[in-house]
Amino acid sequence: MDLVLGGFRPVAPVVLAPMAGVTNTAFRAMCRRFAPGLVYVNEMVMATAVVHRNPKTDRMMAFAPDEAPRSLQMYGSDPVMIGEAVRRVCAEGRVDHVDLNFGCPAAKVTRKGGGAAVPAKPKLLRAILRAAVGAADPYGVPVTAKFRIGLTPALHTHLSTGRVAEDEGLAAIALHARTAEQHYAGEADWTAIGELKAAVSTIPVLGNGDIWEAADATAMVAATGCDGVVVGRGCLGRPWLFRDLVHAFTGRPVPGPPLLGEVAEVMRDHAHLLVDHLGPGLALRDFRKHTSWYLTGYPVGGALRGRFAQVSTLDELDDLLAELDPGTALVPGGQRIRRGHTNGPIKVALPDGYLDRLDDDAVPDDADVMALSGG
Ligand SMILES: Cc1cc2nc3c(=O)[nH]c(=O)nc-3n(C[C@H](O)[C@H](O)[C@H](O)COP(=O)(O)O)c2cc1C
Repeated sequence: MDLVLGGFRPVAPVVLAPMAGVTNTAFRAMCRRFAPGLVYVNEMVMATAVVHRNPKTDRMMAFAPDEAPRSLQMYGSDPVMIGEAVRRVCAEGRVDHVDLNFGCPAAKVTRKGGGAAVPAKPKLLRAILRAAVGAADPYGVPVTAKFRIGLTPALHTHLSTGRVAEDEGLAAIALHARTAEQHYAGEADWTAIGELKAAVSTIPVLGNGDIWEAADATAMVAATGCDGVVVGRGCLGRPWLFRDLVHAFTGRPVPGPPLLGEVAEVMRDHAHLLVDHLGPGLALRDFRKHTSWYLTGYPVGGALRGRFAQVSTLDELDDLLAELDPGTALVPGGQRIRRGHTNGPIKVALPDGYLDRLDDDAVPDDADVMALSGG
């Protein structure tokens, strides 16, 4: 089934996974340079923060003037708040697509029954989805959802979540093929993606988890029958992965990894875009994590890496980039070196007695959850 979001049909069935603290305007612009015409999802914003707007939320919801579609991920577990937040961003003409996050395993959220805990309560889940779709529909804005296999190996909810999403008129769904308990550890269980695809027949099902190279994406589609892929950590420090993915999906040879000289040019451009987005001080501090991802798999030495991790100005960055040997090649298998989150398993925090009754629709209190990182 083709992935279509509203009037947008991507050139390949590939979506940038929303990543808090990463997938801002600057990062998405770098990805688009390598592969225009895909779906690149913004950083997650809290529904409460969208309703009680502040300058930081406004900046997080920014899109480039030429960006299409403008995809925004929202988090919230109160149907009324989600409905209002979705209505506002749609009415203000800010977005072309809203994605909802039901995969967040952060203890401060699941402890109150939010995030990854919501799919365990199908009535609550349905109420949230209904509110979001009801608010977005009059504006023609498609709503999608991203979720995990379940809370624990004993409580798989991906199939019930998929069916509710289908019933409530979502445009597509994406499965991060891990439980909340797994967090980011081990391997994603792609068989769960195949199960979801078999259970949900009327909307596209996207697979997510452990796509490090373009060939992983086509392998996931072949193994599971999924309609497209969502790519997170594999593109950290590697925005060219999206070009590779387009090549793989359109039957063209996938280019080899860039030499370090090309990586340095991308780093410089990315840092400049980040300065435009965040201002110089914040941008360079934020860029430090990206330097470690860009240099992953290139033998540059710990001392130089350490200096990149402390960079504070664009001039300093230029000096450091000049010290890199542009002819350095990626070590064999360097693409597959894990980056971003790798930790887990975790003990999932839940409200007392949360799993005793799964048929209630009590609304979790996430009024004080204004900033989060995770999915
Ligand atoms: C730094 C970071 C931040 C993330 N933030 C979010 C988020 O805000 N919303 C979300 O749905 N998932 C979030 N995720 C999860 C990813 O979207 C994705 O589901 C996960 O990394 C698995 O895909 P991957 O193996 O391709 O990385 C985050 C992941 C990372 C590494």
